[in-house]
Amino acid sequence: MLQKDGFDLWADNYDQTVQIIEENNKFPFAGYKQILNVIYNEIMQNKNSKVLDIGFGTGVLTTELYKKGHIITGIDFSARMLEIAKAKMPNARLIQSDINDGIPLELKEEKFDYIVSTYALHHLSDEDKVSFILELLPLLAEKGIILIGDISFDSREALENCRLENVDSWDPDEFYFVAKEIKSDLVDRVIVNYNQISYCGGIYWISNK
Ligand SMILES: C[S@@+](CC[C@H](N)C(=O)[O-])C[C@H]1O[C@@H](n2cnc3c(N)ncnc32)[C@H](O)[C@@H]1O
Repeated sequence: MLQKDGFDLWADNYDQTVQIIEENNKFPFAGYKQILNVIYNEIMQNKNSKVLDIGFGTGVLTTELYKKGHIITGIDFSARMLEIAKAKMPNARLIQSDINDGIPLELKEEKFDYIVSTYALHHLSDEDKVSFILELLPLLAEKGIILIGDISFDSREALENCRLENVDSWDPDEFYFVAKEIKSDLVDRVIVNYNQISYCGGIYWISNK
């Protein structure tokens, strides 16, 4: 699993590598563009929304929303990713912080219409994903939605099949989402829906009950 320094090194050619993998429909970025598009289109249904992006990277998703007038806050632990995103979104509030330390204190009293995270939360263990998502709930405005797009499978069996077909590009230290498992961990606390977008990627729609 990449650490902070690894993401700093990847940052300058991140967009290009993702694009090549995506265009070849390869693991792990098959479906990347579609996942970001679905999330973009959902947020574009409203104007001037407050959006929090967790693990914004080079800002592929949030830069487009920023250009359309949405108010962007973001968290990422990579200094280089932050520099690249800041150059594209000078007025966004971008915070360098590690999600393993939870939500930065300065955001605890804030409310967001959308909290998004694409291809970042698989760095948390399944248990930590659930507690992190629960920690995000108080930050949602009324009718707010958490949208998570990530490497994800309907079932553990589908994940295992994908692993066997992609042993060379599979990172055994990452924790990919399994929809059935995450849903059953969250169902008592939130409304959660899941759309499988590609063979290895999907989107979670999570809101307060
Ligand atoms: C694969 S990139 C995804 C970037 C962007 N969201 C996208 O969809 O292209 C993962 C991002 O999450 C950030 N990240 C990974 N682990 C993190 C952590 N523990 N705390 C904060 N950011 C983290 C990385 O620095 C990187 O920018």
